[in-house]
Amino acid sequence: MLPGYSIAIINGSCARRLSTIDKRGGEGSVRAHAAKETYLPDQLAIIWHSRTGAARALAEAAHGGADGAARLIAADQVTPADLLAAGGYLFVCPENLGALSGPMKEMFDSCYYPLLGRIEGRAYATVIAAGSAGQGAQAQLDRIVTGWRLKRVADGVIVNLDAQTPEAILAAKVVPAAALEQAAQLGAALAEGVALGVF
Ligand SMILES: Cc1cc2nc3c(=O)[nH]c(=O)nc-3n(C[C@H](O)[C@H](O)[C@H](O)COP(=O)(O)O)c2cc1C
Repeated sequence: MLPGYSIAIINGSCARRLSTIDKRGGEGSVRAHAAKETYLPDQLAIIWHSRTGAARALAEAAHGGADGAARLIAADQVTPADLLAAGGYLFVCPENLGALSGPMKEMFDSCYYPLLGRIEGRAYATVIAAGSAGQGAQAQLDRIVTGWRLKRVADGVIVNLDAQTPEAILAAKVVPAAALEQAAQLGAALAEGVALGVF
């Protein structure tokens, strides 16, 4: 596990099988769920939206950290098939007016029902770029993916760039190296976990 993250890694090769077990059931239900198991894709998808460059830089840093083991897709290009083809997700966007930025919300709106019940148990994590808050967007995203039964596997990252005036908010952003490094480490850890099927 990389420093700075609490990544929920379930030990061993049975992790994927365990995640499908109905905790109320006994051996019978374990067998029933195991029989229904399908192939879990092994690539991370990094889904991003950005208005002034911060979330984009963070998503690209995460992609760099993943070192070829992740797909980087702009939110307005994402299709349900892209999400279905990924074994886990890193969502990266700014907070706008206390919520997810519009194109990221639109991505969820357009993909939500086509994927309902089809990606349960897959891993996700988030990076929110913000001026001074970020918790509203993170909480909204968490609520949305609860419907998909996604599983958060790393603490939410909020990168506050201290943009408070209209001028600062609308200016192109320069993300500090430490935040880019944090995103790169998160991308590396997530991509590895998804590839190994340990989430
Ligand atoms: C329309 C708009 C609304 C914003 N609302 C918030 C907000 O509610 N909370 C916050 O912390 N920052 C807010 N910001 C600031 C951005 O989240 C911040 O500048 C972020 O770093 C931008 O990321 P980006 O460069 O990827 O677009 C807002 C910015 C814009 C343009």
